[in-house]
Amino acid sequence: MVTIKDVAKRAGVSITTVSHVINKTRYVSDDLTESVYKAMRELNYRPNTLARSLRSGRTKTIGLVIPDISNLFFAEISRKIEDKGFEYEYSVILCNTDDDPKKEKTYINVLLEKQVDGIIFISAGGTEENLMNPIDFGIPTIVADRDIQGATSDVVLVNNLKGGYDAVKYLFSLNHRRIGCISGHSPVTPSAQRLEGYKKALSEVNIKIDNSLIEAGDFRFESGERAMRNLIKLSNPPTAVFACNDMMAMGAMRAVSDCGMNIPEDISLIGFDNIPLSKSVYPALTTIAQPIGEMADLIVEMLVARISQKKKNRKSDEEEDDYKRVVMETNLIERGSCRKLS
Ligand code: RIB
Repeated sequence: MVTIKDVAKRAGVSITTVSHVINKTRYVSDDLTESVYKAMRELNYRPNTLARSLRSGRTKTIGLVIPDISNLFFAEISRKIEDKGFEYEYSVILCNTDDDPKKEKTYINVLLEKQVDGIIFISAGGTEENLMNPIDFGIPTIVADRDIQGATSDVVLVNNLKGGYDAVKYLFSLNHRRIGCISGHSPVTPSAQRLEGYKKALSEVNIKIDNSLIEAGDFRFESGERAMRNLIKLSNPPTAVFACNDMMAMGAMRAVSDCGMNIPEDISLIGFDNIPLSKSVYPALTTIAQPIGEMADLIVEMLVARISQKKKNRKSDEEEDDYKRVVMETNLIERGSCRKLS
């Protein structure tokens, strides 16, 4: 087996220099660096990452736990997190829990076994118990997108209530008075808060909440399709619908088309998330945009800072307790799926 000693000999440098080149722990001139990489290529040398992480106490890996990779919101934020993690020379281990707290628990244990340096956790909607393990193990953790009461970690969310409120006030400004809502996965905070925003906006303009206009979805395409069919079939259907995420809004679009109706002529529709696809469907979807890229950058920067802080504190055994709670704002993206009623 080729060792670091063979690489040093081939490159004509010391073993220490090879180690500094591999671990980027000290400046090495471009010439010597190229000599080392050339020797590694010629000898087909693979650094022993396990040995390296035992020495440094770091694996340079981050665990990313998400509920549903088939949902384009999570696909997009995962990609942005991976991009940012790569900038900080971290590899991201993606764990898709399929909205299943049991699978989520299994993945948390996998990440503990792999000794990831940190975890980004978007809850499947269960209790916070799955999160206690890594926190008890002192692994830096960021709770993102879905709030967890009592989580002793940094938290990055968006203002879901205000986003739902703005969606309905926008429809009201277009003279819609019979406004439906397709809610999301009920146990998770974004859905409950967006629905609360819907109700708050209606109450503010003295429109009585009609529960027949509220359909429960699960943030997936099919639930939006099913919910919209139910709303369309009402004896007094809505003239506009707020879907609590873009995936359900697209399912709703499919249902309207299957019923031989048109958006926005027959019914207006607004979504939530602003996934990239929302501008490509026809008509392009009006939606409440989450700052997905900025969220991803902030989440990774906060986690990397915690990891570094932990390494420093390891010497002083200080406990972190200055956890941050960041709530980012959404914004309305007007496209072609809503119209003003005369
Ligand atoms: O689309 C999936 C939804 O669940 C998003 O709105 C996101 O906020 C997540 O909670």
